[in-house]
Amino acid sequence: MPARRHHAPVIKAARIDYSKIAETAEEKATAYQHAKGKNTARERINQLLDPDSFVEIGRFAGGNPADGFLGAAVVTGFGEIAGRPVAVYAQDFSVRGGTLGRAEGQKILALMDKALAMKIPVVSMLDSGGARIQEGVVALSQYGRIFKKTCEASGLIPQISMILGPCAGGAVYAPALTDFIVMTKENSHMFVTGPEVVKAVTGETVSMAELGGGELHNVQSGVAHYLADDETDAIDYVRSLLSYLPSHAGEPAPHYDYTPSIEDEKAAAEVKSLVPEESRQPYDIVEVIEHLVDYGEFLQVQQGFAGSVVIGFACINGSAVGIVADQPNNNAGTLDVDASEKAARFVRCCDAYGLPIVTLVDVPGYRPGTEQEESGIIRRGAKLIFAYANATTPMVTVVLRKAYGGAYIVMGSKSIGADFAFAWPDAEIAVMGAEGAVNILKRREIAAAGPNEKDMADTRTRLAAEYQANHINPSLSVETGELDGIIDPALTRQTIAESLEILRTKDRSYPGPKRHSNGPL
Ligand code: HXC
Repeated sequence: MPARRHHAPVIKAARIDYSKIAETAEEKATAYQHAKGKNTARERINQLLDPDSFVEIGRFAGGNPADGFLGAAVVTGFGEIAGRPVAVYAQDFSVRGGTLGRAEGQKILALMDKALAMKIPVVSMLDSGGARIQEGVVALSQYGRIFKKTCEASGLIPQISMILGPCAGGAVYAPALTDFIVMTKENSHMFVTGPEVVKAVTGETVSMAELGGGELHNVQSGVAHYLADDETDAIDYVRSLLSYLPSHAGEPAPHYDYTPSIEDEKAAAEVKSLVPEESRQPYDIVEVIEHLVDYGEFLQVQQGFAGSVVIGFACINGSAVGIVADQPNNNAGTLDVDASEKAARFVRCCDAYGLPIVTLVDVPGYRPGTEQEESGIIRRGAKLIFAYANATTPMVTVVLRKAYGGAYIVMGSKSIGADFAFAWPDAEIAVMGAEGAVNILKRREIAAAGPNEKDMADTRTRLAAEYQANHINPSLSVETGELDGIIDPALTRQTIAESLEILRTKDRSYPGPKRHSNGPL
């Protein structure tokens, strides 16, 4: 009997032309984004990364060509920046408004897992309507997972967020949990509730820019760390930022070949001429920093916010460092709530990624007054103490001109953790200024000179001058070991460099087991 032939139905899989789909999607994205004055997700990624280094993963995940969705609303992959590997994701606003649903969450989380496994930074480019409303709580939960993953990665691998479009609702907290946020002057918005909700709930009429534009978050709220002119400027800044950071916390801070140059030596020797002798006269500390670091290159962070303190990255003898400095040009360099938080977060960041911290001090004290007390200067000012006191990275501090009261201690003094501290010869270091001190200590003597007001004022001036001459100097700090030396200003750069060299092998192991500290938040 002939064998029964089994005629199974032949299913012909329809061949999908994926390259055609990708091409169509990019054409659509280009038309959509360029009309809004924005680049597409892939254009942005290619501009961020070294040429031809991008390898996309999950290109078609989450898409359904039959429904016209040519991939998910986020592009994910790996590439290189200055030859170093990074993970990157860019939300694609041309696909369902760049919103986040199940598929997008899965793609982002998978990328972050790989970045953690490979110990490389994650750069995110955000341009999204937030949680995809149609997917309900599933979309919300994906945000929850991204928040948690971002926190897990915090302090292990650098995470940088670029806000290149809307970033609305609770979605803003994903970038808020990363190390740095870069915004652009146009097209970049972050708010927890958009203008329409604000109008409905409070009756306030407000524009997108007023509610959450780049200017607002770089100058007033302090949410963002850099205000870029445009997307190209934003990308340049992120590339520079990464050049100062290790790929992960276990890697040494970046070191570049450096040959001492006549220009740098000359600039360092001139630094004293930039600082007026009269301790109340303002000057620009940024110029001082630029005279002390390699090639005068200083990358400021949060330049527009809390201007009385300056933070940023530079190199000294080729090694990346974080710099914290008072800015006498802004509110006399007084520490206030915003300046404290700005410096505190930066110190934590440097400590997490093992960058030495150089602190340049010229501070008259905390800013006094009810406005600051009401704003929580006790709680928020404590953050800076907490940051320095818990830091184990090498720390070198130089008092340039003055350091008064609590602010002297808080600005990276030896007593709260600096490894080495120095002062310039004429530095004024004391609990308070001479006038304030004699008003308390010499109250009776001043009163005895009365009742004539002028006699009392003359006595006060004479006593204050005596106090200034005898007590407002670095001597006590040197004698008690709070300062390691009085240095010639011209040798400031050399002293910092030598100190950092000594500290290169510093043991950073944390003393004692505990779950975590309970610092002021
Ligand atoms: C679904 C959305 C969407 C959303 C936008 N779209 N936001 N789809 N869910 N959340 C869609 C639009 O319907 C539109 O689809 C396309 O994306 C482009 O949006 P437009 O409104 O045409 O663009 P534009 O005029 O540029 O305005 C952009 C926008 C606006 C400002 C972002 O779309 C907007 O206000 N969206 C809602 C923002 C928001 O409130 N999100 C919060 C969600 S809750 P079509 O098909 O017409 O092209 C959230 C919480 C996170 O995010 C939870 C964390 C804990």
